[in-house]
Amino acid sequence: DWIMGDYIEEAVAKIREQVGDEEVILGLSGGVDSSVAAALIHRAIGDQLTCVFVDHGLLRLNEGDAVMDMFEGKLHAKVIRVDAADLFLGKLAGVNEPEAKRKIIGGLFVDVFKAEASKLKAANAGSKGATFLAQGTIYPDVIESGGAKSKKAVVIKSHHNVGGLPEQLGLKLLEPLRDLFKDEVRELGVALGLPRGMVYRHPFPGPGLGVRILGEVKKEYADLLRRADAIFIEELNNWIDEATGKSWYDLTSQAFTVFLPVKSVGVMGDGRTYDYVVALRAVVTSDFMTADWAELPYGLLKKVSGRIINEVRGINRVTYDVSTKPPATIEWE
Ligand code: XMP
Repeated sequence: DWIMGDYIEEAVAKIREQVGDEEVILGLSGGVDSSVAAALIHRAIGDQLTCVFVDHGLLRLNEGDAVMDMFEGKLHAKVIRVDAADLFLGKLAGVNEPEAKRKIIGGLFVDVFKAEASKLKAANAGSKGATFLAQGTIYPDVIESGGAKSKKAVVIKSHHNVGGLPEQLGLKLLEPLRDLFKDEVRELGVALGLPRGMVYRHPFPGPGLGVRILGEVKKEYADLLRRADAIFIEELNNWIDEATGKSWYDLTSQAFTVFLPVKSVGVMGDGRTYDYVVALRAVVTSDFMTADWAELPYGLLKKVSGRIINEVRGINRVTYDVSTKPPATIEWE
């Protein structure tokens, strides 16, 4: 629409003025905010932007390829994909505690990003390298980090894994989404040509599947979880609620699968199975501070459970999480 068109023109002009002929580096995660920031900055300054996409091996099925197809393939942006799965999984071996896992994943992310930033500098001998770090900070993030009153005395989960990166890198900040609310960021993303599915996706935690595999993270678990979760999300998208005409993906605020590293007994054909269990989690919430479990149609649950157990060898039991937040949290870790 024309209002968003005007907004883009203004934002593009502002970015060009701020950046001049300098170079910008951005950590692309595939999430809504960093994706929209990348698309907007790329619209403004093209190849002066380099995106760094760190694949920590804890992403969803085909997520890495989808990010590359979009940003490199369709938008023709410069994207460095760092395949760091072995590094992350190596350091996570033997680690069980959720906050310890978050710390490792957040710390490694900073290390990998810093290494890429200095590689980039070395590769363009003579140039200063990037002088700006772009981030997809949105208005609610600005308020949250500004007010001491919003700081909880007890940290339940340390969500902010990559704070302090600009200082550590000695870069100036470029935050073109700072004035926007989430809905506006989404509209902007669509106007910039990002696919609806990318822009209206449920939130995904920074540590990814690392906090959706309970206890120790193993590649085998991540592979099983990715396949089960892809089935759940596909069926949520396919299942249309007659009353509203919306899919159950759109009717829920966040939905995902959790891997439980316990085995239960099952029967398949004439044989006994002794395999892993997954839990489906789907919630409805307006602010993620409190949440209700979603009253998914039984037919949908039946379809998802049947498909996961039949298609993902290694999982023989599917459960549905009926816990509200509080006292449970949305993620299991
Ligand atoms: P909880 O589990 O605390 O989650 O009810 C509330 C929201 O925060 C997300 N979440 C995270 N996001 N890093 C993130 O970037 C994290 O470590 C993290 N832990 C939880 C969660 O997905 C939900 O949207």
